[in-house]
Amino acid sequence: MTHKTMRDFLTALEKKGLLRRISRPVDRTWEPAALAKWMYQAVPAEKCFGMYFENVKGSDIPIVTAALGANTAAYAVALDVEIDDINAAWVKACRNPIKPKIVDKAMCQEVVFTGKDVRLSSLPIPVWTPGKDVGPYLTTNTVTKDFDTGIQNMGVYRTMVRDETSVIPNLAPGRQGHQNMLTWSDKGKVAPIAWVIAAPPAVHFATVANLPYGADEIEIAGGMMGQPVNMVKAKTVDLMVPADAEIIIEGEIHPGETDMEGPFGEFAGYMGPIDRRPVVRITAITHRKNPIFYGYTSQMPPSESTTIQSLTNAGVMLKMLRYDLGEPSVSDVFIDLTFGGLLAHAIIAMKPGYPAHSKKVGRLVAAMSPIKRVTVVDDDVDIRDHSHVEWAMNSRYNPARDTVLIDDVYFPINMDPSVRSQTSQSTMGSKVVCDATQKIDAGTFSLPSKEIMMKALELWKEIGLPEFEIPKRAKLRIDRS
Ligand SMILES: Cc1cc2nc3c(=O)[nH]c(=O)nc-3n(C[C@H](O)[C@H](O)[C@H](O)COP(=O)(O)O)c2cc1C
Repeated sequence: MTHKTMRDFLTALEKKGLLRRISRPVDRTWEPAALAKWMYQAVPAEKCFGMYFENVKGSDIPIVTAALGANTAAYAVALDVEIDDINAAWVKACRNPIKPKIVDKAMCQEVVFTGKDVRLSSLPIPVWTPGKDVGPYLTTNTVTKDFDTGIQNMGVYRTMVRDETSVIPNLAPGRQGHQNMLTWSDKGKVAPIAWVIAAPPAVHFATVANLPYGADEIEIAGGMMGQPVNMVKAKTVDLMVPADAEIIIEGEIHPGETDMEGPFGEFAGYMGPIDRRPVVRITAITHRKNPIFYGYTSQMPPSESTTIQSLTNAGVMLKMLRYDLGEPSVSDVFIDLTFGGLLAHAIIAMKPGYPAHSKKVGRLVAAMSPIKRVTVVDDDVDIRDHSHVEWAMNSRYNPARDTVLIDDVYFPINMDPSVRSQTSQSTMGSKVVCDATQKIDAGTFSLPSKEIMMKALELWKEIGLPEFEIPKRAKLRIDRS
């Protein structure tokens, strides 16, 4: 069972030495974000840590960032699994969703502000790209609902604080939150919306999963937690929200009310475009007593948002390929941790069963996800080892024969400058599938036999040469030598 609250997770993370408390008072308008930027830009991934800013100037509420996605190890702590078991945990959660439990009393509603008492400045909402963002932004889970089906959706949509009582979420056409909003506004109705801050980690991760429209992230989060997520009715809008979250912000989208949103530093490494988006009138802020504020560090990769999205969506994709699309031939999926896990590079390991099977799987991945590049390799390649994948590309991939280009792709996430023209914000993009599986039997590897290699390993130890851990790449190769 994974952690029931964000606090349980932070305690576990601290015990592993993966959380740092910073007691010096910080200015939320630049210091937490700028420090987190230094960490992701300069500290090796395995040494990154969650940041807990205990003293925020002008606020009683601490700010936590980078904890859920400090690195793969922190992400594994959040799911309470070993690093090697992350994909398996997602496959299991997606195959065994658990419906939420409705509760009457909730931690997230211990303190309630509505009407004239609503003030967004009561929360320490950070500025994430100081000096360049238009102002503070919420980078957390957003809840919307389909009017017709009543099914809720959760996604993270960057959300600009406009003033004390209104915000502008980046609900872009094509995204599920936008689709949900239309089910209300097309009928002239006011759409409910809410933000969930510092929920149980599984809720955070399920929120960034690319699930089919109509799939309820909360049930997948329950599957991951091994127990139902407690949900409570929001105070002022017709939505259910995670009861064990620290803070909830509730609001309404009135049909036709829009304003300009941005600029905001984006995961593609540039300042994202400014566009017209719906305005939300905030109707309530509720929280537990002495709450913690959580915001994701995103912007220039690597970052927390790229880490959590890549790791989550790799597991979800593996489940879909194996169990929804009839491809048990696929054994593993990795999404590179450098481009938001969205328009990024997915590497698929599989055992092809018939001619062009690997190309078919590559095309499926391209069609079912926002991934821009797909590389398919045999299951004798460690897909998390860059040098092993490069070797497969060099020795098994013949570009003219093994490339599939997919044209006329609309990317609803218009943050990627490579698919924009200088003058228009969103142009059509394309995708590529590189089939780097073996097409012929190329013979045995140019390594001594396994027997000789194992004897040499004993010799290595006997001589007292520096110790090493055998990487998966070496194991896979030596086993076949
Ligand atoms: C910090 C952060 C900010 C994000 N901002 C946006 C955004 O502004 N717009 C967007 O479409 N996706 C954004 N995403 C990605 C979505 O949350 C993610 O793709 C999610 O699956 C979308 O949910 P949906 O498919 O239900 O719409 C962001 C993710 C993170 C972690």
